[in-house]
Amino acid sequence: MPALNSWLVTKWDDVIRVTTDIETFTAVDKKAPVVRHFGDPAIIHVDGTVHRELRKGIAPHYAANKVTEYIDHIVRPIARECIAAFPENGEIDLLATYFEPISALTLTRTFGVMDADIETLRRWFHGLAMGAINFGRDAERTAICEKTKAEINEAFDPIFDALEAEPNDTPISHLLYHGMPEGERRAREYVMPTILVTLLAGMQEPGHGAANTLVGLLEHPDQMALVRSDIETHLKKAVSEGIRWVAPIGTQGRSPMKDVEIREVHIPAGATISAVIASANHDEEIYPSGDVFDMTREHKQIATFGFGPHFCAGKWMSLAQMELALRILLEEFSEITLDQDKPHAFSGWEFRAPNQLYVKLTK
Ligand code: HEM
Repeated sequence: MPALNSWLVTKWDDVIRVTTDIETFTAVDKKAPVVRHFGDPAIIHVDGTVHRELRKGIAPHYAANKVTEYIDHIVRPIARECIAAFPENGEIDLLATYFEPISALTLTRTFGVMDADIETLRRWFHGLAMGAINFGRDAERTAICEKTKAEINEAFDPIFDALEAEPNDTPISHLLYHGMPEGERRAREYVMPTILVTLLAGMQEPGHGAANTLVGLLEHPDQMALVRSDIETHLKKAVSEGIRWVAPIGTQGRSPMKDVEIREVHIPAGATISAVIASANHDEEIYPSGDVFDMTREHKQIATFGFGPHFCAGKWMSLAQMELALRILLEEFSEITLDQDKPHAFSGWEFRAPNQLYVKLTK
């Protein structure tokens, strides 16, 4: 795909091969938009020891058993605050006033960032996304991302100052200190690219995944009724189907270390490959009628969180958060319908979500 400077691998089996055969395919790609804009080493574009060290700084805090200890205490008050602040005129965009704030604030409160206001956080992840999707080296996207990074760097100075004086039990602190000899730590410049990756994925994606799921349910009232009939049993399936149907993140970027053949297509060593997980989720050999939201379909593994050593470090926190945010909404409002006067449209290829999600709510 010349416009992306990348080969696209779209079938389920091929996506798994490209992302899990680490002898042949590397995540290292100095030309990737994330590396050009966020810097090197960025966790998703390093392999081996450097990758393992960075991952150990973040992943333990988001392991399934750890998440169950804190997720309810964090998400519930944020959700309540958002609901209390819904505009009284009934014009409620759940994306901007519910799902994105819950997602962004949950990340900051678990990651070790100060409690920035929600508009700042939304500006940050939209600005960072401009860099991460900048495959075409667009000047405007570059400028937006650079401005956002400068703002984030400035906001992070006091966080680093405090952690360099005294470590704590947050992922940012672990990124600085984990596995280092007594009295030593990594430089802030070294961990910052990985912090930017985590801020972007962590603040943006669970909100978008929950919104994608709600759209599926609102467009299929029979399935919404099924979920409401027994939230405990059915909500998990709805979320899994929602993020399969519209995957919030489109690709995992890889590069072959030697010439390879994929479906009789020759791809030279060093080329850029996008393993399109969003497309694997719609592979007709795995998911018949994959473009239809159907939470009653046979439950299978989904590609949404990626495969291989780089699979999403925030998977368990995201699932728990999306389920909780949706559950609180369903329990609070007996009826939710799409606002037909303000329709949504899905957009984005690397990051995909509705542009807005206006609804009518009944208590
Ligand atoms: C629905 C929500 C999310 C989705 C769909 C998602 C998806 C993904 C995918 C597909 C990857 C693989 C990227 C690659 O190999 O290039 C990834 C990696 C990653 N995600 Fe997520 N993500 C989500 C939420 C989160 C959250 C909440 C966090 C916060 C901790 C997070 C942190 C990360 C990190 C640190 C990586 C890099 C892992 C590595 O390279 O070892 N993600 N995510």
